[in-house]
This record gives sequence, structure tokens and C-alpha cells, in this order.
Amino acid sequence: MTTDDDAILVLENVGVARNGQPILAGIDATFQRGLVHAVVGPNGAGKSTLAAVIMGLEGYREATTGVIRYEGAVIGQLDVTERARRGIALAWQEPARFEGLRIGRLLEASGASSDDEVDAALHDAGLEPDRYRQRAADTTLSGGERKKLELASIMVMRPRFVMLDEPDSGIDVASLDHIFAALATLQERETTVVLITHSPTVLRHAERAMLMCCGAIVDRGDAERIGREFASGCIPCPHHPRQVARHDTRRAS
Ligand SMILES: Nc1ncnc2c1ncn2[C@@H]1O[C@H](COP(=O)(O)OP(=O)(O)OP(=O)(O)O)[C@@H](O)[C@H]1O
Ligand SMILES: [Mg+2]
Repeated sequence: MTTDDDAILVLENVGVARNGQPILAGIDATFQRGLVHAVVGPNGAGKSTLAAVIMGLEGYREATTGVIRYEGAVIGQLDVTERARRGIALAWQEPARFEGLRIGRLLEASGASSDDEVDAALHDAGLEPDRYRQRAADTTLSGGERKKLELASIMVMRPRFVMLDEPDSGIDVASLDHIFAALATLQERETTVVLITHSPTVLRHAERAMLMCCGAIVDRGDAERIGREFASGCIPCPHHPRQVARHDTRRAS
């Protein structure tokens, strides 16, 4: 039994269209405070779009219908900066191109209050502080290095609700442990986490999961069960879009 007090973020009948194309429809979801949630589903299911809608990114905010409630307040009209100020964060599937700040400065701008905190965040994300502190945060960083830097930024930002879009993509196996250690730290801080992932290894770190398909949530519940369902029955996708419209997407979580 969950109560409204347990919910940090609630979506009610959320939909979004892009270029006249419906991408998400009828999304009802509750994210419980302090838990690690996973969002799984095949390519093109709408997972990253869901994250963009919650973050209120440019081009999505205006196109979103339905209600997004965060900490009890309707936030649909708030821009991305205000949502970030209230503690919502998103680590991108494709890390943003940075603007060329030194990495140390970037982390200070993200919220680190001392050199020690900068170094700890770099170390925890798997970036050797002495090697990276003075480097420019730009496209000379490799894809994996940019992902790690983004994780370091998230850790110093101390968000209350963080979405990590494919945190393991482009990350070598040895470095995966840094992601899991960061997750453990986020849990200690009682941060609510949404992991968007295709990886069974990452999914194992989630407590709840949602299965998305064709712009809808088609199942939800215990992460292990949803993981099995996704692994066994979901590819090739049995949910024709017209079947999804008839799917019961309002099952209790
Ligand atoms: N601006 C847009 N115009 C038209 N279609 C779009 C637009 N943005 C996204 N889409 C489509 O919306 C669908 C959902 O995309 P989204 O990136 O959310 O999928 P995803 O579940 O994150 O997939 P992946 O696992 O590949 O990352 C895709 O079919 C995509 O092509
Ligand atoms: Mg995606």
C-alpha cells in the first residue's frame, strides 16, 4: 500500500507529440520517494522522451499534455531551469557537448563547494582527478569520459529526483562499478532515481520497473519480473500500436 506522501513525482495522462507525431500517450506513473526505478523497453519506445518531458526540455514542455506533479505541485508550466532548481536532474543518453570550461570549474559550477569535493566526485565517477581536473570539458573527451563527467556533475548537484538515461552505454565493464557505487551513494542520500536502461545488470539495481512500448507503459511492478518479461517476451515486440491503445496501462504500481 502506498500513499501520496510516498510519491515524489506523479504523471497523470501525460502525452506528447513531436512534429505532429504522437510519441507518448496516456502515461500514468508514480515514482516513489527514495526508490530506484527502472524504465525499460525497446528502441523507440519513448523512454528518453519521457525523461525529456519530466525535465521540461525545450520543445517538449510546450508539446506536453496531462499533469506532471512533483512534490505535490503541478510543474508543467515550469521551465527546465526552474525544474532543475527544484531538484530534478537528467543525465543524457548522449552527453551534452560541454562549453570548454575546465573540468574542475564545471564541477564547481554544478555545485561542488571545495577542491576536495571536486576531486572526490571525479574519483568516484572513475576519472583520475590529477589527470582530468585541468582538462577542458569539451569534445576532446571520449564518449565514456563524457558520461563519467556527467555522472560526477550529477553527484555534486545533489538532485532529489535524477533520471539516468542509459548510464552504462559506452562505459567499459571495469568502470560499471563506479556507476553502481554512485547509485549506492544516491540511495544513501535518499535520492529518487530513474534508470533508463537496456541492461539486465543495471536493472538488477532497481526496485521497481516500468516496461514501455510504443509510447505507453504496458506493464509495471517488481523490477526482476519486468526484467524477465522484457528479456523473454518483448523482442520482437508483440505490442502492435493499436493493441497498446487497448492495453490496460492503469495498473497500480
Ligand atoms: N522530434 C521528433 N520527431 C518525430 N519523431 C520523434 C522525435 N523525437 C523522437 N521521435 C520518435 O519518438 C520515438 C521515441 O523516441 P525515444 O528517443 O524516446 O525512444 P527510446 O525509448 O529512448 O529509444 P532508445 O532505446 O533507442 O534510446 C522514436 O520512434 C523516435 O523516432
Ligand atoms: Mg533513449
